[in-house]
Amino acid sequence: MKDAAPRTIYLQDYAPFGWQVQSAHLTFRLAPEATRVVSRLHFAPNPGAPAQDFFLHGEELTLIRASIDGEEITPEVTPEGLRCEVPSGPFLFEAEVEIAPAKNTALEGLYMSNGMYCTQCEAEGFRKITYYPDRPDVMAPFEVRIESDLPVLLSNGDKVEIGEGFAEWHDPWPKPSYLFALVAGELVNHAGQFTTRGGRDVELNVWVRPGDEHKCPFAMESLKTSMRWDEDVYGREYDLDIFNIVAVDDFNMGAMENKGLNIFNSSAVLASPDTSTDADFERIEAIIAHEYFHNWTGNRITCRDWFQLCLKEGLTVFRDQSFTADLRSAPVKRISDVLMLRARQFPEDQGPLAHPVRPESFQEINNFYTATVYEKGAEVIGMLKRLVGDEDYFKALDLYFERHDGDAATIEDWLAVFEDATGRDLSQFKRWYSQAGTPRLRYEESFADGTYTLTFHQHTPPTPGQEEKAPQVIPVAVGLLGPNGDEVVETRVLEVTEAEQSFSFEGLSAQPVPSVLRGFSAPVVLENDIPRETRLFLLAHDTDPFNRWEASRSLARESLMASVTEGAEPDGAWLDALGQVLSETGLEPAFRALMLGVPAQAELARALHEKGVTPDPEAIWTASERLAQTMAARWEGMLPALAEEAKVEADYVPDAEQSGKRALGSAVLALQTRLDGGAAALAAFDGATNMTQQLAALSCLVRAGRDKQALEAFHAQWKNDKLVMNKWFGLQIALAGPDVAVERTEALVKHPQFDASNPNRFRAVLGALAGNHAGFHRADGHGYRLLADHLIDLDSRNPQTAARMAVAFQTWTRYDEGRQALMKAELERIAAKPGLSRDMSEMVSRMLG
Ligand code: PHE
Ligand code: ZN
Repeated sequence: MKDAAPRTIYLQDYAPFGWQVQSAHLTFRLAPEATRVVSRLHFAPNPGAPAQDFFLHGEELTLIRASIDGEEITPEVTPEGLRCEVPSGPFLFEAEVEIAPAKNTALEGLYMSNGMYCTQCEAEGFRKITYYPDRPDVMAPFEVRIESDLPVLLSNGDKVEIGEGFAEWHDPWPKPSYLFALVAGELVNHAGQFTTRGGRDVELNVWVRPGDEHKCPFAMESLKTSMRWDEDVYGREYDLDIFNIVAVDDFNMGAMENKGLNIFNSSAVLASPDTSTDADFERIEAIIAHEYFHNWTGNRITCRDWFQLCLKEGLTVFRDQSFTADLRSAPVKRISDVLMLRARQFPEDQGPLAHPVRPESFQEINNFYTATVYEKGAEVIGMLKRLVGDEDYFKALDLYFERHDGDAATIEDWLAVFEDATGRDLSQFKRWYSQAGTPRLRYEESFADGTYTLTFHQHTPPTPGQEEKAPQVIPVAVGLLGPNGDEVVETRVLEVTEAEQSFSFEGLSAQPVPSVLRGFSAPVVLENDIPRETRLFLLAHDTDPFNRWEASRSLARESLMASVTEGAEPDGAWLDALGQVLSETGLEPAFRALMLGVPAQAELARALHEKGVTPDPEAIWTASERLAQTMAARWEGMLPALAEEAKVEADYVPDAEQSGKRALGSAVLALQTRLDGGAAALAAFDGATNMTQQLAALSCLVRAGRDKQALEAFHAQWKNDKLVMNKWFGLQIALAGPDVAVERTEALVKHPQFDASNPNRFRAVLGALAGNHAGFHRADGHGYRLLADHLIDLDSRNPQTAARMAVAFQTWTRYDEGRQALMKAELERIAAKPGLSRDMSEMVSRMLG
């Protein structure tokens, strides 16, 4: 257990480490309860560093022996590390430690998953493996020897020698310890090959447990596509002779970009049509790409310190988003990304956990792998690209790779490259990295003598620790439509830099209708009360697919809010206009499927709160149900034609075209279920030929309350497949009515296949409860209590996953007094738990404010 006393780390306190590691040699003698790690580290003084004691990080290690230049030493050992006297010049530090991977339930450092050894070192896990300067700015070439009887022994870099009971690996690229990885187990590989455009032949492998071989081909294809894309678009080639991916069942996050040896949560790599949905395939493709892209943006150029996390994550998310947009449908990808941003990042930015894209202090870095660092970080890169243009963007990126290859860099370095490549001054733009909170944007229009003027106002509300906010640089993409719906001014990016600022368009024959923030050109909230007629006009005519979708979405939101607050009927004019769009056969099915989506209940809660209305979860649920019922009834006549269009005759492929059709088909089936009580869904469930269809049908049956037999059948079919079983667990809670969600969760945590120590299973069950808005926020507080009980329990074994899930409470101050008191009491109960982890105590204390 970690020290309970909060220690806070500040960006401003950064100082380089006093030594360089010239080479690191590690020998692992693997044993579940007593692994020995022998290290040989060559240190040399770092000329640029201030004078300091020699200190190596190390946690939960048993020191067996240590020496300097061959002389035994007795260092001072604390729970955080080791201190000793060292010579003034270069020296060899050697140590032997013992660790117990089988007892490692935090899944950080060296641990075991199903009899297989694996590691997770980002951010600060390497210090649980051996004594080391475990910080990203200390980079070294690693040589690793693994001794074990297990058949497959892997580490970073290239193979040196593989023999009976051992393997040796050498990674020539200097890397920080967080990119170290080791895997040992009874694994089989799905092999592939790639030749880089420079002519390097690369051996590719996806390593899995025997029996999972058939779930590898898609990951392999995605990897090759990613490798080619990074060459074609960013000019980046792979730099080793081998690239390994390993699937593990117990993993806290999605995947990890360790040099040459990416380790993946099995849910982020294993795919087959029978067991994975189209959404799973798309996610896997994106995560494979993301981790691969890190080889340049993260590994070749890494972060100086963990405050710079967005340097690698924001950029790499931006790169994987662009990759998916290129491979699939750009507008559909943009809309999906914005949905995600609004669902996950906006609540963070607008609540007690708000922090800048580059935070300035933390207690536990694991708590900062957030939607703000990742997704808002990616938005910031997108804005930069929009402002400088594509050509200058790639010029700046080339300069970044040229100038900083091999460096541990900062956001200052990153921005300097853009300034030098484009001649722009980015000092105001830099506020995106330092100012937390979502900027609010509003505009006024005027028209006289053929000149149309847009006047923008921006402000950012205060966030914890940041009362005053300065104006941001906001790229606002705007197009103008004429009264007949024709585009009279094509998209142009206005650069709003002042609190108030006007832009004029001349030579117009009539007052145009503006389409503002096209493509969601900046992560802001547009506050305008745009008249309903204007939104209907944009829904019918906008040439920008994002804003067309946005117009419908905002009409949906307003209609739902009126239902919640005044009991109003769903907006018929909107439904008719949307029905019109749905029958436009020229629009891609995936886009129409998105148009059929309505705001999530949590999004409505946020929207109501923004308008000063206390959200009532039950009323929101009721209004949402009623809207779905109305949609189905109103569009009944058009559903058969849509279902027909959604049919896929060809063999299953998870590409954009087919998955778009299936998405439309699933949305239509959901509406159909509202009309027939589940008859069509039952037939679809029985006739399903892939997981996408099977799960869509099952979802309809769960929502309709006709799920008992289908759930049993599904369980009988898939009980031995852990990944599919996660869906079975999650679905029946996520889609349950508010009256039964908590009871279902209570029953499922007692199910023999519930396993709280597996993060995927824990998230499937407790995460589904937290995501069931009305169920979680049940007025009696049972949902809160159940989640808190499980978080407290998990925290003692796996603080990282427990603390991440505590985010479910971040919106607590939005609700009525009764719910606030109940949630606050749970947060206080968690906070009072003796031995609480640093991760959890930081999260809870930030939420309590
Ligand atoms: N660096 C990983 C990624 O972005 C995420 C990660 C962080 C994984 C910490 C494990 C632990 O892909
Ligand atoms: Zn990443």
